[in-house]
Amino acid sequence: MQEKTTVDGSLEQSEGGWTFDEQVAEEFDAHVRKSIPLYEQVQSQVVDLADWFLQSEGEEKVYDLGCATGTTIEQLVNRYGTEGPPSFIGIDIQAPMLDRARERIGDCSNVDFLQADVSSHMSFPGASMVISLFTMSFVREEDRRELVQQIYDDLEYGGAFVFAEKTRARSSQFQDIWNEEYWDFKASQGLTEEEIIGKAKTLRGQLRPLTVAEYEDILTDAGFDVDRDVDIFFKWFPWTGIVARKR
Ligand SMILES: C[S@@+](CC[C@H](N)C(=O)[O-])C[C@H]1O[C@@H](n2cnc3c(N)ncnc32)[C@H](O)[C@@H]1O
Repeated sequence: MQEKTTVDGSLEQSEGGWTFDEQVAEEFDAHVRKSIPLYEQVQSQVVDLADWFLQSEGEEKVYDLGCATGTTIEQLVNRYGTEGPPSFIGIDIQAPMLDRARERIGDCSNVDFLQADVSSHMSFPGASMVISLFTMSFVREEDRRELVQQIYDDLEYGGAFVFAEKTRARSSQFQDIWNEEYWDFKASQGLTEEEIIGKAKTLRGQLRPLTVAEYEDILTDAGFDVDRDVDIFFKWFPWTGIVARKR
């Protein structure tokens, strides 16, 4: 068993073995805000984007892949109501995360949470929007390609795939700058140098960021028209939000 390292106060994980277990689930909402710059802004931009892709017609469905503790779905429910349409389906592989999401959302007839591995050939029937925030990098690259293909195939005409991820820079020069800006952000959130390095070690082999160009290739191969229907809605050094519309 790998050595445990501290990543945020009493939160510990093993090197190369980051998992969204019970302890992470307990601390997730506070920890994610110290780990992802402008986390709340991204959430609110994604909900704003929904206004452009949900037209209150028929049984519209929004899927949130890697919904974690339900932050995004909570904001969507606050915006669109608790009865639907639209209906919201939150999917996550980890039961402790889903427990928090269910607690947070309570009884809403238009929300379902599902424990599943999004890389296991899932389908997303009737999707007007597929959202995935800070999750795709945990999916193996070959599975990510298949997942994006499935999303494209299942999206309704005019629907959108909206995702945000840690991304690698186009060049090593910028990668160095992005890294150091990111460390400074984490330090500004009160994380110690030991915790910043410790977290990086826990994510070894777990988090596999791609460049924006590599995501564009995956989107193109799936069928999205990158020149016409794909754009960046958020950028902060190594963090990127991308919206891809199916036409
Ligand atoms: C960084 S968190 C996501 C944060 C969340 N989307 C938000 O905006 O607050 C990543 C989530 O993806 C989930 N996850 C990782 N791999 C997954 C997979 N293969 N299938 C489903 N969920 C997965 C984890 O359990 C975790 O809850």
